[in-house]
Amino acid sequence: MIKRRSFVKYFSVGWLASCFPVVLAACTPSGDKNAAKTSIPEPSDGSAEAKGVKKPAAAKTADGFTPIGTVADLDKAGYLQTAAVAVSRNPANPKQLLAVSPKCTHQGCVVAWQPGAKKYECPCHEAAFGADGKVLKGPAKEALPTYSAKIVGTQVFVKV
Ligand code: FES
Repeated sequence: MIKRRSFVKYFSVGWLASCFPVVLAACTPSGDKNAAKTSIPEPSDGSAEAKGVKKPAAAKTADGFTPIGTVADLDKAGYLQTAAVAVSRNPANPKQLLAVSPKCTHQGCVVAWQPGAKKYECPCHEAAFGADGKVLKGPAKEALPTYSAKIVGTQVFVKV
């Protein structure tokens, strides 16, 4: 037989546990109720920028090139790199740009440009690639894919 004190203890704990989700829901603001307080006014033109979507710094050109940085940044760091492409100057002809995929062809790690040695090295298994993407040291066997790159004004453009 259940004693009165135990019954009251278990009933109280159960009652508190069943109330918790209700209290939590009551303390959470719902979308519609507070929509007027939190909505950002949209301009009448309905543009994406007005809806909080940032415009890219510069758009893709008609010939498919995308800006990835400035010539000043390229020359300061010795390279420019995004998730999709890495650009450096050709060590044999600094007026020419070389663009490669920074994804190692061995197992997909991201290679890092070594400004002093003017080559890409993979941190995972120490493969090395030239600025043109050619394999200098294994275990990678295939060169990094290459892309077209050019300078227009003060910007570096790549076609990936
Ligand atoms: Fe680059 Fe293995 S993933 S050397």
